[in-house]
Amino acid sequence: MPDDIIASELFQPARMGALTLPNRIVMAPLTRSRVGKGDVPGPLNSAYYAQRASAGLIISEATNITRQGKGYAFTPGIWSDAQVAGWRLVTGAVHARGGRIVCQLWHVGRISHPSLQPDGGLPVAPSAVTPKGNAFTETGFQPHVEPRALETDEIPGIVADYRHAAAQAKRAGFDGVEIHAANGYLIDQFLRDGTNKRTDRYGGSVGNRIRLLLEVAEAVTAVWGGERTGLRLSPVSPANDIADSDPVAVFGPAVAALNRFGLAYLHLVEGATGGDRNIAPDFDFAALRRSFNGLTMLNNGYDLGMAERALRADRADLIAFGKPYIANPDLAERLRSGAPLAKPDTATFYGGGAHGYTDYPAMDEEQRNAA
Ligand code: PHB
Repeated sequence: MPDDIIASELFQPARMGALTLPNRIVMAPLTRSRVGKGDVPGPLNSAYYAQRASAGLIISEATNITRQGKGYAFTPGIWSDAQVAGWRLVTGAVHARGGRIVCQLWHVGRISHPSLQPDGGLPVAPSAVTPKGNAFTETGFQPHVEPRALETDEIPGIVADYRHAAAQAKRAGFDGVEIHAANGYLIDQFLRDGTNKRTDRYGGSVGNRIRLLLEVAEAVTAVWGGERTGLRLSPVSPANDIADSDPVAVFGPAVAALNRFGLAYLHLVEGATGGDRNIAPDFDFAALRRSFNGLTMLNNGYDLGMAERALRADRADLIAFGKPYIANPDLAERLRSGAPLAKPDTATFYGGGAHGYTDYPAMDEEQRNAA
């Protein structure tokens, strides 16, 4: 095993706001659609997260702040007391294994379907712009519909839903929260001029388009403090049919304005979410890092070598690994020892039970000794 890997920054502890992480390896938020009735996590979900507790930090799968915010079948919520009780199983199991876990707070906006909405209503969005593509419903994929544009006076209620979900996450025993402002979901829909056609104080100018983001950050940090709050952005990702005529003009001011909340970390998806890292080679992620006061977490397609280089070049403080965490519960140990990684089976990414979820083994002793 090469010395530079042992000495690697990836395995150095990091102070991240109020938390101390034993290493810089983060389990990225991963939708797995395996939560049961009432959108309540249970023992299977708890076992899955506990297996991955050696990560420096676990970010939970995206978790619906309300029924209205839900866009995918079998995803968990955090609005009800039953959901809080379910999440307590998860956080307790992760803590018992010495881990740390934050809850990713999610409202999908237009990326939903009436069959998932309260009373079968329309999904809500900044503007009535129909996304291309399909929603994942309980009866399979169904085409997206034209969403209903939120009234200006409904927006404080959405911000209050984030505040409530943040408080529920605290009751559930999480170590903090991550605001999901990426991947073409509600907050991102407000940020972008492709989906935000509003003429009120939440649309038009960049200052107006970032208003919901800042109001949510204010509400969530009022509950948790900035030192236990992170935030995820995907400035150039086309995920969920999102588009902007000028992402540079939006994300510079957004990150600068977020500094007032003293966030623990900024989580950036480079390139297309879960895909091509190089779709916008001219976008300056380093400039966002320089302008942000907390730690920078980078994500998308990292392996050990890429992670090492990003830390060494001071492009990031933390690296979030998504797909590798599906198939390698002991990813941190495998990276540390240079062991080979298991490949995830895409057929079991979403839905189902233990197969493809909790049945990926950790390295056995033989593999550990050979590595
Ligand atoms: C997905 O289910 O593919 C998914 C969910 C949340 C994200 C991105 C992708 O932020």
